[in-house]
Amino acid sequence: MNQPFVLALLRNPRQIGAVVPSSQSLARAMAIAAAPSGKRILEIGPGTGAITKALLAEGASPEQLCLLERDDRLAAYLTRKFPGVRVINGDARSITDTIQPKAHSYFDIVISSLPLLNVKEADKIVILEQIFSLLDQQGLLVQYTYSAKAPISPSLANRFGVKGERTAMIFRNLPPASVWKYRYFSYRDFQN
Ligand SMILES: C[S@@+](CC[C@H](N)C(=O)[O-])C[C@H]1O[C@@H](n2cnc3c(N)ncnc32)[C@H](O)[C@@H]1O
Repeated sequence: MNQPFVLALLRNPRQIGAVVPSSQSLARAMAIAAAPSGKRILEIGPGTGAITKALLAEGASPEQLCLLERDDRLAAYLTRKFPGVRVINGDARSITDTIQPKAHSYFDIVISSLPLLNVKEADKIVILEQIFSLLDQQGLLVQYTYSAKAPISPSLANRFGVKGERTAMIFRNLPPASVWKYRYFSYRDFQN
């Protein structure tokens, strides 16, 4: 049993949006999709850190990683678990206020475990506006979903000028999940 996860689930099931943490297979597929080495990465909704661990294993260094987690106890847990990684206890609906970067183009990659299926459409738009404001034209959003459909509808993706691509389906996860990458239409190497 993953105690921090179960306690968070009991506190706020809708916000957690999953019954168990991401499996090692899903975490690895997310990290491979991100190709994190040498990139500045914002991870949103890291939960208990399964994907964080995979990002570090795939070559990210702790200083490149910034974790944004809304649940305060999970944020404290992540701080203890990943020394050297910046952990912010905050809400994805107000990322730019929370992070206080020279906000624009601040990250190369945003990797998200947000349970977008549970997020109201208006909140989803606010979150995506913020995410894409933090990425430059070469930026990448990696997101998984338990749905057969894309985590961001094609019409919403169009609104942000991005295109989605499913890069992996992971059956060794409860429930099975697929990994999606989003990039701006203008990015020529999208197939890579
Ligand atoms: C599906 S769980 C992540 C599971 C994670 N991959 C793991 O293996 O533990 C989703 C996470 O997103 C966080 N979350 C949900 N809404 C959020 C928001 N608006 N801002 C930041 N984090 C949020 C939840 O607290 C939860 O930790």
